[in-house]
Amino acid sequence: AYVITQPCIGTKDASCVDVCPVDCIHPGPGEDGYDDNEQLYIHPDECIDCGACEPACPVTAIFEESAVPAEWKQWIKINADFFQGA
Ligand code: SF4
Ligand code: F3S
Repeated sequence: AYVITQPCIGTKDASCVDVCPVDCIHPGPGEDGYDDNEQLYIHPDECIDCGACEPACPVTAIFEESAVPAEWKQWIKINADFFQGA
């Protein structure tokens, strides 16, 4: 799955949402019942690994899971945890 990492925080450009063919990028408050708005998150089980979102992000926040830079590896878990219990 693809993962949204630290550069999204404070930017939330949302261009990624428009290009995702399966609508698996979730915005936060008021959307889907999730209560968080620091960044956007990709649902790891819904992402079909199409790659469309990666070049759409102006701040290069999105990476395929295996390509997440070392300093942002914890965002793999942050994205997954966001959907736990939702
Ligand atoms: Fe959506 Fe494709 Fe990005 Fe996965 S890789 S979040 S399916 S646009
Ligand atoms: Fe965030 Fe980039 Fe999407 S800033 S909302 S991951 S386009």
